[in-house]
Amino acid sequence: MAVKYNADGNTFILETRDTSYLMKVSRYGNLLHLYYGERIPDENLDYLIQVCDRGFSPNPNEAGNDRTFSLDYLAQEYSTDGKGDYRIPSIEVVNGDGSQIFSGKVSGYRIYKGKYALEGMPSLKAASRDTVDTLEIELRDKESGGTVILFYSVFEEKNIVTRTVRFVNNGSEAIRLEKLASVTMDFKDSDYDFIVFAGRHTMEREFTRIPVQSGVHSVGSSRGASSHQYNPFAIVCDGGAGEDHGRCFGYSLVYSGNFAIEAEKDQFKQLRINAGINPQDFSWTVNPGEQFQAPEAVLAFSGEGFARLSHLYHDIYRENLCRSPYAKKPRPVVINSWEAAYFDFDDTKLLGIAKQAVDMGVDLFVLDDGWFGKRDDDNSGLGDWKVNLKKLKRGISGLSEEIHALGLQFGIWIEPEMVSEDSELFRAHPDWCLKAPGRPMTRGRNQLVLDLSRQDVCDYLIEAVNGILHEAKIEYVKWDMNRSISDVWSGLLDAGRQGETLHRYILGLYHVMDEVILKHPEVIFCGCAGGGGRFDPAMLFYQPQIWCSDNTDAKNRLKIQYGTSFAYPINTIESHVSVCPNHQTGRYTPLKTRGIVSMDGILGYELDSTKLSEEEKAVCREQVKFYKKNYRLIAEGDYYRLASPYENPYFTAWQHVSKDKKKSLVSLVLTDKEGNDAQRYVKLKGLDREAMYRIEGQKGRYSGALLMNAGLPVPYELDEYESVSFCLRRI
Ligand code: GLA
Repeated sequence: MAVKYNADGNTFILETRDTSYLMKVSRYGNLLHLYYGERIPDENLDYLIQVCDRGFSPNPNEAGNDRTFSLDYLAQEYSTDGKGDYRIPSIEVVNGDGSQIFSGKVSGYRIYKGKYALEGMPSLKAASRDTVDTLEIELRDKESGGTVILFYSVFEEKNIVTRTVRFVNNGSEAIRLEKLASVTMDFKDSDYDFIVFAGRHTMEREFTRIPVQSGVHSVGSSRGASSHQYNPFAIVCDGGAGEDHGRCFGYSLVYSGNFAIEAEKDQFKQLRINAGINPQDFSWTVNPGEQFQAPEAVLAFSGEGFARLSHLYHDIYRENLCRSPYAKKPRPVVINSWEAAYFDFDDTKLLGIAKQAVDMGVDLFVLDDGWFGKRDDDNSGLGDWKVNLKKLKRGISGLSEEIHALGLQFGIWIEPEMVSEDSELFRAHPDWCLKAPGRPMTRGRNQLVLDLSRQDVCDYLIEAVNGILHEAKIEYVKWDMNRSISDVWSGLLDAGRQGETLHRYILGLYHVMDEVILKHPEVIFCGCAGGGGRFDPAMLFYQPQIWCSDNTDAKNRLKIQYGTSFAYPINTIESHVSVCPNHQTGRYTPLKTRGIVSMDGILGYELDSTKLSEEEKAVCREQVKFYKKNYRLIAEGDYYRLASPYENPYFTAWQHVSKDKKKSLVSLVLTDKEGNDAQRYVKLKGLDREAMYRIEGQKGRYSGALLMNAGLPVPYELDEYESVSFCLRRI
């Protein structure tokens, strides 16, 4: 059993193959954190609990005059509120009497085989060959009856611990939650770096490393979606940690709404991490007998740097997250109409693009924005999911038939969560959008957000989207969401419960996705939110892939995909080859490089194929062939970041290695060149040290040890933005 309770020491022990996680019930019933990290033998860790008299630290009543016991400095599994722990709390409540105190003491526990289930929210599922055990610990506040249940599921072989928290009101008065973190983790020291993935529209998930400093460092989203601005993933690591060395702790939230990940270095130079729903603009009233469920957090530990941490997340997210059968199947290579035509198309133009795409080896044609309602720009039409017959004379079904007749599959774009004021939907239901009474509206991309916290709006959406899917043969849907939410107010909630709106929106969205996406397993759904504004594990529960960024510039993509790769598997990252000059940056990069960068994800195209020369089409054809040949290696192999776009000014490189180490693909893009330049080398990773490898198209054989220690020369003749791939085979 991966979960044990040791009655002698009052200790809970969670063990994966390589990690240990220990906590202890204190003599007064508080749940103290003892240890998380590299696997350690069964030993008594009581010596790790601080016992010193801290002058200004309060002592709880039950400690009598024992001045060495204070929640002000003890490491805890889940903090109290208002009981003398002054660090960022795990929970904030307002009790029936107005007091803001929660003092949870261990009141029970349960250990069982298998994983806990979350109702109405995405979470990891155990596969049949996984050994998973679960621990639930109940922390009850005697006075209010409020009870926190901490859940831990331990994926023994995958070295993953998932956590979540449920709040149950066992009292007689309503309790208002103002914060309920999914995970708290206290460290007894603070000599760490905090790594977050910060960004903006068209420049998502930039790797950002900050030494932990006194005070609170908090990242998150208050935009209604997990957002471009920060990703719901963070790493705490040793100051010197790198790709291959150093201890790293990962915190990944399976949540698509407002979140916060907080790091506080306290007065005693200890670190606390909290992650969960963003407490800003959040509250939730839990009536007697009711409960509130926090989203899941996925924890991983690596004692060998970032690459190993990424492998742990990639493996579990590839195998235990996405419900779509496509998660484990090769995805089609798509051509998307957006950068090819924007809003300006008719069926003749689209069929022209599709015809040439056949010649490029593409599998599927995606009709992006502009095919419905009155939609010739982004100021109108959202909500009216009826085909525009002026543009598509034979409707969606007619176009789909014609695309299929060319030998391609067919996909469309939708943005179900939004409405334009200039739309029939808005004119019929002006109350269906988020909008505060008596206040002017705030628009984003000139559109409003439908209030998915309402059941009637969700019911309408389920019918509307399922209707589109039944109207024609559609094999792929790009599900977009193109604005940050503001003016949060829902017409169906009481004044005192408006703080619930945004979380209810996300629950509504999950419900719609349950009823649309999970009911159509034959369709590939691709997530999108102005590119990568909702690239999170909860969306990957429904959608096997996400459009990574609206920025298709190959050089910028090096950074965006580098940051994305820390938590997310390569076969979730949709990445397209577009034209030059690039539409977002004006930059020219070779077509070959655009292909190599796109293959560091799910390869696709986003250009007017009728404007490509025969030579260019031939290059694309080769790219598609090469990609398909190496698909399994790219999608299922171990991923190594060889040279960082942030640290290496000269080149960025990465590598895929098959699990059996027989095959590897190394890709490199030259990002700067100097006169009379030095010869540079790229050191490979993850190979079998003892084995010999051959590089396709080259003479000679090299040992894994040599390639990993001396490296391969970066071809001297490469010019700026040129690139190269090496295919290695074990002999
Ligand atoms: C968003 C998406 C783009 C495209 C447009 C259409 O910006 O990220 O790929 O679909 O919307 O309006």
